[in-house]
Order: sequence, then C-alpha cells, then structure tokens
Amino acid sequence: MPKKPTTPTTRRKADSEMTRRDAVKVAGAATAAVAVASAIEFPRIQKVRAANSVVNYAVIGTGGRGQYHLKHWKTVDGGKCIAICDVDDAALKKGLEEAPDKPQTYKDYRELLGRKDIDAVQIATPLYTHFEITKDALLAGKHVFCEKSLVFKPEEVHALRKLCTERPKQVMQVGLQRRYSEFYQTAKQMIDKGMIGDVTHAYSQWHRNPGWTWRANNWRLFRKYSGGLVAELASHQIDIADWFFGATPEFVTGVGGLDYHKDGRDVYDNCQLIFKYPKGQKLIASYISTNKHLAMFQGQRTEFGESFFGTQGTIEITVGTDNEPALGLWYYEPGPKVDDAKKKKEKEKAVASSATLLSTGKGGRPLPILLDKDQVTDKDSFLSKEMKFARRWLYQKGVMLPEENRNPVDVQLEEFLESIRSGKKPKADLEVGLADSTAVILAHVAMDEGRRVMFDEINKMGNGAPAAAPAKKG
Ligand SMILES: NC(=O)c1ccc[n+]([C@@H]2O[C@H](COP(=O)([O-])OP(=O)(O)OC[C@H]3O[C@@H](n4cnc5c(N)ncnc54)[C@H](O)[C@@H]3O)[C@@H](O)[C@H]2O)c1
Repeated sequence: MPKKPTTPTTRRKADSEMTRRDAVKVAGAATAAVAVASAIEFPRIQKVRAANSVVNYAVIGTGGRGQYHLKHWKTVDGGKCIAICDVDDAALKKGLEEAPDKPQTYKDYRELLGRKDIDAVQIATPLYTHFEITKDALLAGKHVFCEKSLVFKPEEVHALRKLCTERPKQVMQVGLQRRYSEFYQTAKQMIDKGMIGDVTHAYSQWHRNPGWTWRANNWRLFRKYSGGLVAELASHQIDIADWFFGATPEFVTGVGGLDYHKDGRDVYDNCQLIFKYPKGQKLIASYISTNKHLAMFQGQRTEFGESFFGTQGTIEITVGTDNEPALGLWYYEPGPKVDDAKKKKEKEKAVASSATLLSTGKGGRPLPILLDKDQVTDKDSFLSKEMKFARRWLYQKGVMLPEENRNPVDVQLEEFLESIRSGKKPKADLEVGLADSTAVILAHVAMDEGRRVMFDEINKMGNGAPAAAPAKKG
C-alpha cells in the first residue's frame, strides 16, 4: 500500500501515480474477465425461465455486500444459491464460505449467465459495472436484483428503462432495503395520515469519522468507478425522501469539496445538498467523513438518520445495524391555530389521548414509533410505562406495527423471490432505482458546476444532446 505523500510536489506526483495504478488495479480484473468471456459462447438473448417453486439464483460480486447477502440468503426460504461469481479469488473464497447450498464458483459472470437453470441473479459489484452486468443478465433471461445505486451514467438510465420496458416479465429490483422496513412503512403511514401535520422538509445525514480509508484498489474513492458519498450513502436517504414526499425532486443544488482526504482519491469528502420537491418540500442532505455526531435520537446514535419536520411534529428514523436496533421517534408539537372545525376536533382528540405524555418537560419529549414489548408491568419505571402507553396509543390509531420482526434486508430478498413467482412489482422497482440514480447523477452535476440542476435535464443527458442546461446559480 502506498505511503501518504508528505509534500505538495511528492503528493502531486504520487497522486497521479496512485490514480493510474489504481485504475489499472480496479479495472484490470474486470478487463481480464471480459477477455476470457469473449471466448465463451454467451447466449445474448434468452427467454425468461419459468420459475418453479424454488428459485435458483446466483450472486455476482462476492465482496463486502455480496458476502453479507449470502449470509442473509440463509434466512430466506424458497430459493437455492446455485452459483456465485467474483473476479477476485479471495472474495470468491469468502463468498463460498458464507454461501448457502454449496454453489458452483465462477470468475466470469457471462459464463454463469449462460447457465439455463439459473432463474435470477443478484448483483453486488462496484457501481461502474452495474449497468453492463444487469443488461447482460436481462438479455440472458434472468430476473435481476441489483444493488444501489442502480446505474452510474445518464445514458444508462435511459438504456435500462428501455431494456426493462421491452422485457416486462423479468423482475428488476434494487437494493434499497429501507422500503422493506416495517418501521419506515409505519412512518410513511403516519405522514400520510397527517400525524405530523404538513411536512415542510427533511434532514438527512450520514457522517463518518473516519470515512473511507485510502486503499489503492478501493473503487469507491475514484470518480471513474464511483459516485462517492452520494451514491454510496445519500442514495438510501434520497430514496426515503422521494417515498415519503410521494414525488421525485424538481431540482438539486449543492456544494461539494474534497477538503480533507487529500490522499489521491478524487471523490468529494464533504457534500452538502438541497433537493426541492414539487410541493415545496426540501431535503437537506449532508455527507462528510470527518465527524460522526448525530443530533437525532436524543444522542443515542451516531452517523446516520433522517428527520421529517411537519407543522405538528417531527419523525426521526433510522435502520438498524448489526449491533444496534432500528429506531423511530415521534416528537409531537401543537401546530398553529386550527380554524377548520373538523381539523380542530381531530387535533383536540389527539392531544387528549396523549396528554399525559405531552404535558411534561420543556422540549418535545419523543414518543417511540416502535418498541419491543407493549405490556405494562409493575416492574416498569414511570418513564417506561409512559413510553408503553404512547406505543399503545399509536397501535390504537392503527398506524404502528408492534415491532420490526425481521431485518429489512431479509425481507427484500424474500420479496424478490415472491415477485419472481407472482409477477408482483417490487417495492424498490426499476423506476425507484432509476429515480434514485438520477438524483445521485444530478447532485454531482450541481456540485461540480455550482448551479441548480433541474431533474428534467436528465432527459437531455446521455442521448447525444448537450448534457447541461445554461448555468443558473442555485
Ligand atoms: N444496500 C446497501 O445497504 C449496500 C451496502 C453496501 C454496499 N452496497 C452496494 O453493493 C455494491 C458492492 O459494494 P461492496 O461494498 O460489496 O464492494 P466490494 O468492493 O467490497 O465488492 C465488490 C466485489 O465485486 C467484484 N467484482 C468487480 N467487478 C466484477 C465483475 N465484473 N464480475 C464479478 N465480480 C466483480 C470485486 O472483485 C469485489 O469482490 C455497491 O454498489 C454498493 O453500493 C449496498
């Protein structure tokens, strides 16, 4: 691993060397795979294989995420992992260790796609390879689950939409697992039912300290292969704002900087973005690699979460990690004076039902969106009882599920198989994935060009027409 350069001159020299070396390393394996592939007779267009009750699937890319998926596939019934693929021997070996069902290993995904007994593939390779592999898999007649961010470039947005439209029987699902969380589904229902009033804006944050560390072969650090923090982290949270606001943004503006990690990477390490939605709502989204403080969840967590702010309250929400549970809090606040008689009555009812919970404390005291148990016992402390009453009240309202019974990652895998069998559209489907990728792509244009980028500009990009509209400062 190269040492961090110490002077500007050596750094400049080292940077260019590292970038070149990096390009060779990252791209090398894939190029080698393509060379091998050209000798293989690859069935470019296959019919979709009718899935039996058991879906035979393969995982392409057995690095960090691929291994995680293989572990989680073990919890899902109705599928059989019959093949895995990675261009890297070490990753393939680890993938095999994690995999259920003793799959056959491949170094070339095209060879794997040639197998007629494979119904579906899951793609967990670096972003710059997603489109090519997804396209080849669809053409080979496979159902596809591709990790986020779905595609990398504007032309890929258009090409994948066209391809999927031509092949409607094939399932196309994207790895945006928050959509499969009961927690998030409950928060979405609360917002739709007006429980936090009119939602004006959201704040999302994914801050790390340290962020991605320097590795010459880390594709995430280089724009040629990666959409940086926006593709890797923001994509999840922009998708939630799209879902909760029920729309895609009108425009994005933002400031990006490579301010701290001057080690040879060329992705931004500090991204501050504002997305404006059609009804005036805004998503203010922040991504940095030098501090992980999180001003949410009453200081219980660090790094990442989303807050939705309405005229009558706030929701704070985040997914679980391997070590921490998912969290959702609701801060009720009396809204402005309500004149409409019906609304006034509803509001009075809501306040009365939760009066014991809301009357104490100066600041807003949060109510749990979800807790483990709902039975109040003598052993509960005063605070614990109050929290449980709040939960019951939410149950009564019919907007809350008792607990998140399963990891949304497992649910998304299970529902992928279900969609293959039933033809049901996935929650995170093609258009969800393309909207998300479009937001990532346009956020970079906004930061790079220092302007407000309208979302309909994507229609002019990647089709041979000029990529950018006249500069308009955001
Ligand atoms: N949904 C989520 O929460 C989540 C979390 C982590 C990563 N991801 C996504 O998963 C994808 C992979 O990320 P990662 O962290 O696993 O990266 P990684 O670098 O750890 O793994 C990628 C693997 O793909 C392999 N690969 C590259 N080109 C290939 C090819 N042509 N054929 C077969 N294998 C190839 C690499 O050798 C590597 O082992 C990214 O798109 C990332 O954004 C999603």
